[in-house]
Amino acid sequence: MSEKFDLKQAFNVEGLSTLVTGAASGLGLAYAEVMADMGAKVTLTDINPDTLQQQVDRLAARGCTVRGAVLDVTNREQMAQVFKEANDAYGSIDVVFANAGIDVGPGFLTVEDERNPAGEIENVSDEAWDRSINANLTSVFNTIKAAVKYMKPKGSGRIIVTSSNAAIICEPIVGTPYMPAKAGVAHLVRQMALELAKYGIQINAIAPGAFMTNIAGGRLKNAEDRKAFEVRNPLGRIATPDEIKGLALYLASPASSYVNGAQIVIDGGTMLGQVD
Ligand SMILES: NC(=O)c1ccc[n+]([C@@H]2O[C@H](COP(=O)([O-])OP(=O)(O)OC[C@H]3O[C@@H](n4cnc5c(N)ncnc54)[C@H](O)[C@@H]3O)[C@@H](O)[C@H]2O)c1
Repeated sequence: MSEKFDLKQAFNVEGLSTLVTGAASGLGLAYAEVMADMGAKVTLTDINPDTLQQQVDRLAARGCTVRGAVLDVTNREQMAQVFKEANDAYGSIDVVFANAGIDVGPGFLTVEDERNPAGEIENVSDEAWDRSINANLTSVFNTIKAAVKYMKPKGSGRIIVTSSNAAIICEPIVGTPYMPAKAGVAHLVRQMALELAKYGIQINAIAPGAFMTNIAGGRLKNAEDRKAFEVRNPLGRIATPDEIKGLALYLASPASSYVNGAQIVIDGGTMLGQVD
């Protein structure tokens, strides 16, 4: 054990310029909040200007260094502009959370485990497929590309991507176009980890299970839908967004200096199998 290892320093993210996509709600807001509360300078971005402004104001009111920028992650021009402004405002881009994503439901089973024709493949619209790939996968490609432009010249950076346990297992009560988009995200992270390590950039994925957010129109706030996820979970519950903050801080900080190309599952054990 090295006498020089300082645990507090290992988790120190003070002053790091951090940009989060989809930061006005749910997991993105949790990432932005933990970074801002720990002293990072955070650019919150989101497609929804109203909720974005509310969250920026809330964090600023408690003394955090934050700014907001409207960003649709499928819009490459806007992405380039928002990254440029964040770099101008805070002097660098050190940490990026590529987080924004959408559900395009329904699944081929209902929460009562019955067949749901609306979610069966012949009824999945081409529009839903394209929208999922664009908002969940191409968006992450766009975000990584924008981030690398600022991280490569300075020889350092952290990129944290929100995948899903849907990148690893299939979930019949979630819409089919979501699954391959998230699996693609996970593999993109692995390829990028190989390529970018040489430039001091580390990239990892967080694969959450069910968290109580506004995804899918807030379906997890509906008791029946929530129960369908709770019964699949050994802890018997779904998670709150606060429960992702420790992992987010770890992956953004020097504490995870040897973690690269990983996909870290945070799902209360859902993928291990079912218990009665
Ligand atoms: N909540 C879960 O159970 C869960 C599980 C696994 C993975 N995820 C992933 O977590 C990420 C965050 O989802 P969440 O659950 O916090 O949902 P959420 O709906 O609460 O938050 C998503 C945010 O992204 C924004 N957004 C949507 N489309 C956008 C776009 N094109 N450009 C920019 N912003 C956009 C929304 O306005 C919203 O503020 C997503 O990638 C999602 O797939 C969530």
